[in-house]
Amino acid sequence: MIPDHMQEFYIDGAWVAPHSSARLGVENPATEEIVAQVALGDAQDIDRAILAARRAFDAWTVTPVAERIAKLKRILELYNARYEEFAQVMSTEMGAPITWAREAQAWAGQVHIEATIKAAEEMTWEYMRGDTRIIHEGIGVCALITPWNWPMNQIACKVAPALVAGCTMVLKPSEIAPMSGILFAQAKKGPAADGKALWDFIQKEKYQSWKMWPGTEAQYKGPEPHGAFLTTYVNQAAFDSIKAKKGKFADGSMIVQDNFDKNKKLKHVDVMYKVKGYNPKAGDWFWVQFKANGKVDQEGKIDECIKCHEAQKSNDYVYTSKMK
Ligand code: HEC
Repeated sequence: MIPDHMQEFYIDGAWVAPHSSARLGVENPATEEIVAQVALGDAQDIDRAILAARRAFDAWTVTPVAERIAKLKRILELYNARYEEFAQVMSTEMGAPITWAREAQAWAGQVHIEATIKAAEEMTWEYMRGDTRIIHEGIGVCALITPWNWPMNQIACKVAPALVAGCTMVLKPSEIAPMSGILFAQAKKGPAADGKALWDFIQKEKYQSWKMWPGTEAQYKGPEPHGAFLTTYVNQAAFDSIKAKKGKFADGSMIVQDNFDKNKKLKHVDVMYKVKGYNPKAGDWFWVQFKANGKVDQEGKIDECIKCHEAQKSNDYVYTSKMK
């Protein structure tokens, strides 16, 4: 598998054409085949990346630690959603057997992000020593250069701690195994506001392994027009928003509700997905109703869903619990 954007750089939140025209063939060591061309940067490309990272630093470094940890959890969620793709690209760029790429290479990226989250949650970021207040702060823009072996292991070990510490960065993955790094830059995005893409995404993410809406259980009794029994799952962004009680869901929040009939047979799956700028008039929610087999029944700015959920406008359009 070859990721998109092999001949671009991800700078300032967008894929951009390189200044340099240099390219390098990426070889699959298992077959000795050149499978793709990757763009190589020059000094101007690097300056552009560093200046963007420097501009982003001022705002990022003063975000509360809890917010940075929440972002890292979201990155983990998106990484896991693409777990198989990571295994596939590392198998290609490393020549690794696919089983090894899955069990070790992709796994290493996952566990290092998890370990960083845990360490950040346990760390004392600010404390008094006598009369002196000690505050751990981000040091600035970090230059991260990673080698070809264990590509996602190396990237996760550098990117995750730098981010959570309040740093911004320029990452240069190995040019001979660059594809996992390119995929990693893409993994920060959720799916488009599109029913089919969303279904594929939540399947890959195994939404039924997500947390349930805090305070609810599997197959609780539901009201009309939803099922007689409901199980309501939330992704990390939504879970954190509910817990934060700020009255509003973060962009990228997903709420997936399995609707069962009175015999506890799955009837349909209703989803609310918050997409920045999608529908500012109604909380930016993208609504979908899937049939039990995953076929899209209705999707988009569905009047029927909005009309009823609008009664909860001050609660960001949700019923299940108070957001403040
Ligand atoms: C007649 C009113 C009504 C309509 C129409 C309606 N819902 Fe709901 N919805 C509710 C209520 C009430 C709940 C709370 C159920 C619970 O206890 O979890 C809910 C819960 C949900 C939830 C769980 C999050 C939350 O808001 O608490 C999702 C997701 C959801 N609805 C999606 C949809 C979609 C998608 C549609 C349109 C296809 C839709 N709903 C249509 C009343 C409605």
